[in-house]
Amino acid sequence: MHKKIENIKNQAKKEIEQCLDLKSLENLKIKYLGRKGEVSSILRSLTSLSVEDKRTIGPKAQSLKNEIDIFIKTKIRNLLDKKRTPIIDITTPGKKIKTGHLHPLTIIGKEIIEIFKNMGFSVCDGGPEIENEYYNFDALNIPKNHPAREMHDTFWVKKSSNPSKGINDNLLLRTHTSPMQIRYMEKHNPPFRIIVPGRVFRYEATDASHEINFNHIECLMVGEDVNFSNFKYIVQEFFNKLFSIRKRSSSKNKKINIRYRPSYFPFVEPGLEIDIQCVKCGGKGCNICAGSGWLEVMGAGMVHPNVLKAVGYNPKKYQGFAFGVGTERIAMLKYNIPDIRMFYDGDLRFINQF
Ligand code: PHE
Repeated sequence: MHKKIENIKNQAKKEIEQCLDLKSLENLKIKYLGRKGEVSSILRSLTSLSVEDKRTIGPKAQSLKNEIDIFIKTKIRNLLDKKRTPIIDITTPGKKIKTGHLHPLTIIGKEIIEIFKNMGFSVCDGGPEIENEYYNFDALNIPKNHPAREMHDTFWVKKSSNPSKGINDNLLLRTHTSPMQIRYMEKHNPPFRIIVPGRVFRYEATDASHEINFNHIECLMVGEDVNFSNFKYIVQEFFNKLFSIRKRSSSKNKKINIRYRPSYFPFVEPGLEIDIQCVKCGGKGCNICAGSGWLEVMGAGMVHPNVLKAVGYNPKKYQGFAFGVGTERIAMLKYNIPDIRMFYDGDLRFINQF
C-alpha cells in the first residue's frame, strides 16, 4: 500500500507538470481527486485494513490528497501567469515615435537671433509683457495726450477698485518692445548693441496681416560714433543673411529689395519705415501687400535725444539707432504664408509643414 501511494503521487506529479492547458488539468483533477478517482479509492479501501495499518497508512493517504491538490493549484497559477505574459514577436515593425518640432515663429526667431549674435549683438531676454505707461510711452518721448499714442491701440489693465491694495500705475499690455530700450539703458552704459525679442499686443481688428498678439524683435545700438550708415549696413546684412539661411519660400533666387521710407516715431529722429519688396507677387501687387508691392517690416530710426536724456545719457556724446521688426511679418515673407492668423490657429496641416 505504501508503494502504491508513492506511485500515485509520482505519477500525478509528472502528469500535472506536463499538462499544457486548464482543460486537461481539470481532467487530471477528476482522475485523481474525483469521487471515483484514484485517491478516493485508496481512502475508501482504508476501511478494510487492520487498525495497525489504518494508523500508518491513513495519514499518508490523506497527505497524498493534500499534495496532489497543491500540485494542481500551483499548476493553475502557472498556466494563468503564462497566459498573461505577452508573446513578443520580434519580427513586427516598430512603432514610430512621434517627436515634436519647433513652431515656425520659434524657428524664425532663432534664425534672427543667430544673425544678430554673429554681428556682435547680445540678446536681452524678457521684460514685462504687462508694462507701465512710463516705459511704454512717457520715457519714449510720447507724453500723455500726444497724438502718437493714438497709433498704439492699447489694452489697458483695469485698475484695482481698492487703490491702497492695488497698483496705482497705469498698466497696459505693451504695444511694442521699445520699452526695453529704456529698461536696458537705465541699467547699462554705452557702447552696446542688443536685440530683444518679445511678445506685444494691440487692440485692433484682426485680418490677414493684423493680430492682437504678435512678436517684435527690438534692436538697439548706442555708442560714440554710431551713425545712419552703420544702421543701413546692419539692416541690409540682416536681410541678406535671413534669406539665405533656409530657402523654402518662393523667394529662392530673387534678390530682396529694401526700401527706406521717412516716417514718424516720437522716440527716433529721423524716423523711418523699412519695406521689403513683396516676395509673393514680386512687387506687382497682391492680397498680402494690399496691392502696393511692398511689405512693411520694421519701424526704425536714430534714437531721439530726449530718450537718451530720459535714461541719463549725454546726447551730445552718444548716438544710436533702433528698430523694431515684426517676427510674424518676416516669417510670412520667408515662408510665403498668406495670413498672420495661421500662426495661432493651431491647425496641424499648417504647423506640420515646418
Ligand atoms: N516700436 C515701433 C513700433 O511698434 C517700432 C520702432 C522701434 C520704431 C524702434 C523705431 C525704433 O512700431
